[in-house]
Amino acid sequence: MKKNLLIAGLVCLAAAGCQKSADTPTAEMDAFISDLMGRMTLDEKLGQLNLVAGGDITTGDAINSPIGAAVAEGKLGGTFNIKGAQKIYELQRLAVDSTRLGIPLLIGMDVIHGYETVFPIPLGLSCSWDMEAVERSAQIAAKESAAAGINWTFSPMVDISRDPRWGRMSEGAGEDPHLGSEIARAMVRGYQGYLSSPDNILACVKHFALYGAPDAGRDYNTVDMSRNRMYNEYFAPYKAAVDEGAATVMTSFNTVDGIPATANKWLVTDVLRDQWGFDGMVVTDYGSIAEMAPHGVAGLADASAMALNAGTDMDMCSFGFISTLKENLDNGKVSQKTIDEAVRRILECKYKLGLFDNPYKYSDTLREAREIYTPEHRAEARRIAAETFVLLKNEGNVLPLAKKGRVAVVGPMADNALNMPGTWSVAAAPAKYKSVRQGIADALGADGSVLYAKGANFYSDKAMEDGISPNGSTRDPRSDAELLAEARRVAAQADVIVAAVGEAAEMSGESASRTDLTLPANQRALLEAMLATGKPVVMLNFSGRPTVMVWEAANVPAILNVWSPGSEGADAIADVIFGDVNPSGKLSATMPANVGQVPIYYNHLNTGRPEDPANPNFQRYRSNYIDSTNEPLYPFGYGLSYTDFDYSNLRLDSESMNADGTINATVTVKNTGSRPGTEVVQFYIRDLFASVARPVKELKHFERVSLEPGQSADVTFAITPDALKFYNADLDFVAEPGDFVVMAGPDSRRLLEKQFKLL
Ligand code: BGC
Repeated sequence: MKKNLLIAGLVCLAAAGCQKSADTPTAEMDAFISDLMGRMTLDEKLGQLNLVAGGDITTGDAINSPIGAAVAEGKLGGTFNIKGAQKIYELQRLAVDSTRLGIPLLIGMDVIHGYETVFPIPLGLSCSWDMEAVERSAQIAAKESAAAGINWTFSPMVDISRDPRWGRMSEGAGEDPHLGSEIARAMVRGYQGYLSSPDNILACVKHFALYGAPDAGRDYNTVDMSRNRMYNEYFAPYKAAVDEGAATVMTSFNTVDGIPATANKWLVTDVLRDQWGFDGMVVTDYGSIAEMAPHGVAGLADASAMALNAGTDMDMCSFGFISTLKENLDNGKVSQKTIDEAVRRILECKYKLGLFDNPYKYSDTLREAREIYTPEHRAEARRIAAETFVLLKNEGNVLPLAKKGRVAVVGPMADNALNMPGTWSVAAAPAKYKSVRQGIADALGADGSVLYAKGANFYSDKAMEDGISPNGSTRDPRSDAELLAEARRVAAQADVIVAAVGEAAEMSGESASRTDLTLPANQRALLEAMLATGKPVVMLNFSGRPTVMVWEAANVPAILNVWSPGSEGADAIADVIFGDVNPSGKLSATMPANVGQVPIYYNHLNTGRPEDPANPNFQRYRSNYIDSTNEPLYPFGYGLSYTDFDYSNLRLDSESMNADGTINATVTVKNTGSRPGTEVVQFYIRDLFASVARPVKELKHFERVSLEPGQSADVTFAITPDALKFYNADLDFVAEPGDFVVMAGPDSRRLLEKQFKLL
């Protein structure tokens, strides 16, 4: 039903006023929804709480699908993962024309890092440390989604993770609460902007909470964490997204304090709603109400009551709310008031989107044809992708390559457009994308040539490769030996070798945990064979997580980590390897030296028995390993450039401050190399003594600074007591007087430092 037909007196006809009311909950919205709810039956209300996957109708007939039938019967509040404005229009029309009250649908999708214009996976995006780029990527993702009928994205995923065994590190912003919070905010701004605009959609912060800390890095596994750690280390990005105005939140699959998040009242009501003031809608993750049975907590009916009473509003794919809440109401396990609150929050989302004014706002096939995968969006994706690559090693300045000669491109990612977008690219159109081979050939033009050999599949074992190829396999049926022999022949004719190796898209992402983070043996063999030619070798490491690359770091002269770089990744790779763009990415997660160090993170506590860093020998009765260093291979914040930056003269304008004071810490950064470059300048803080043990350092401020050769800049971090606050034993957020250290440098390891006091 159109809003203006429903309640004429409250119609907002003036466009500007209408937009305002759609963005800011108002008395108008409340009155409109109260009127609507006053006329809804219980069945119609329960229908609104039901969210069902529509994936099966992406290629089929929307109206005659089971989803179409459910819509027509008023049994759905929304559906998701359907591609195509026409199908969405048809479903929306069914909802509006065929149901008694004509309430439009929420149409969701996992637009995690772009729609058809696919940006690098979020872990890659976070390595840009460029909040404008992150926001822009979300804005373009929203614009394309909106043009295709989507009004709700299940993003941003802001789960902190310190465990690269967990495949879903690919979807998050790495290990740091501060960087993760800035990114969470940027993404919410990008998606939602001004919600009533036709280019913006609802964001959904997920997975609340702690999903990134499963035991042993195994997806969906138990999480068990102290409240100290939750508040001080894991909660920050969720809260930041809520503070930025995220309209919806998704609960996680895991337990929190032994209770599945979806039914955890402390988490959803006390923390999210009461402490943080979230007044939006909470949706479950896929089937997580039904999963409370295998969790050993409750069968569907009781689980549904528990979830609703915990503060969850919408049931994704468990069919628990729609099938059991009536009986739960009859037997007193839920109240009408709680059901009504949930319905109201869902209707508010629809109102804020402006769907009651125009249910077809997001389903316009002309707009879909015009606004998706445009040259402008592609150019942005290419520019941004290049910012996400992290140069890990560049011995002898192998990179950048001269844009001429014969370049051998080898490896399972060399000619593989299908895997460029990366995991969770629901709307990707890989047939439109380029492979690395093509990107390099286009960059070389007539000045050079590309020679190609695959050289290796992702895995030697066919069954393993089939397991990671749900979107279609690019496996070569030849044996490892045949593939290698061909690669050797091709490499013999080349001047330089680019090895595009690492992970296929689905070696990371959901349900893709790994216990071995090294390059599969057949791919390592390819690198060995290429190095044996004696020619310069550049390794492009594709990965959806930090991987273990000790052997590669010791043997391959140049390593560029390109993550899953997205639809324009091939051109972006060419831009960087030929030096049109100077790499500036920095790791947002530690790269371990071996999997036994995991979980490994830079902002750890010191312990009572830290190692003496000056002593190179094994130190017994210290916190260390007898068979491994504590040091990661590459620390958080690390990344090289084609130029060099020198840090000097960290200084403070005062050595102490009061509770309402500020100290300016300034460091001088100079480009001492011969190319223009961009450096991510990082500031960390350590609280030397506190009532609760505090990390050895915590990122508190960063800036991207672009410098010409020889140029220097002063970069200042204005330290306020807010930057010194933490949650104490009572979970109060406080700054305690005492001694602090501020550090500045190019990564979390190479830092200048100065001490100061909070009085
Ligand atoms: C994932 C969510 C996703 C949902 C809907 C779940 O399996 O955990 O991140 O949004 O599916 O596709």
